[in-house]
Amino acid sequence: MMSLDSQILQLVSHGIPTEFLDTVERLTKEHYRQCLEQRFKELVASKGLEAVKTEVNDMDWESTFYLRHLPKSNISEVPDLEDQYRNVMKEFALKLEKLAEQLLDLLCENLGLEQGYLKKAFYGTNGPTFGTKVSNYPPCPNPELIKGLRAHTDAGGLILLFQDDKVSGLQLLKDGQWIDVPPMRHSIVINLGDQLEVITNGKYKSVEHRVIAQTDGTRMSIASFYNPGSDAVIYPAPTLVEKEAEEKNQVYPKFVFEDYMKLYAGLKFQPKEPRFEAMKAVETNISLGPIATA
Ligand SMILES: [Fe+2]
Repeated sequence: MMSLDSQILQLVSHGIPTEFLDTVERLTKEHYRQCLEQRFKELVASKGLEAVKTEVNDMDWESTFYLRHLPKSNISEVPDLEDQYRNVMKEFALKLEKLAEQLLDLLCENLGLEQGYLKKAFYGTNGPTFGTKVSNYPPCPNPELIKGLRAHTDAGGLILLFQDDKVSGLQLLKDGQWIDVPPMRHSIVINLGDQLEVITNGKYKSVEHRVIAQTDGTRMSIASFYNPGSDAVIYPAPTLVEKEAEEKNQVYPKFVFEDYMKLYAGLKFQPKEPRFEAMKAVETNISLGPIATA
């Protein structure tokens, strides 16, 4: 189940009841139709996006909102959510949090790290950051000119994606080719972010992906991010750093997670390598104290 050869996997035996996933999908789609669809149409009209003639590089064809679960939930304050949807998303987050932690320990096992190592590495002072980005990608007249979501790697740790059971669009880059991650009903797609690439010293890589909006059909995508705490110090696990790489200074950098996120905010749609280089350049300024995690 845990082969990460392709660095992304579709998990079917995740233990989350299928009826529950159906409810999440139904309520998310209802919420989109009732609260967001009209707003998206108005945005498209105001920016003239229906009739673009050249590639758009500064926008995505997506309608989104965010829910934060950890370290402190904001679900009760998010506007326009009906009680049932609010409660279902709270429960969904709890289930995914548990799944993420199980997966982190599976990764530990695969990497020969002690159980709990990755969870600890993410912990910082207040525990991990965990949140959900709920997206819909409405039908797009020019999917080649404006992407549903432009190509990027995720900044954080482990990403658990519950995607539409019918409308495709997610693609990942493998050996220079964009490959579809087709809908598979009731599956959870697992993706790794930049922080796991750093901690594993490149044994696992974050994967570049994008969304192509479809000309027909609205694609639902619920991505939950299990990320380090903002003050967690991220660095390669010492047992995963070969002596030779160390001597050649080919080791991933050490930094505070929130510093990486500040950098990422402006560079999300750029290649990840310059981000790692930039963190390496400021590495010497970090004072490591009692928050070191290993
Ligand atoms: Fe992403």
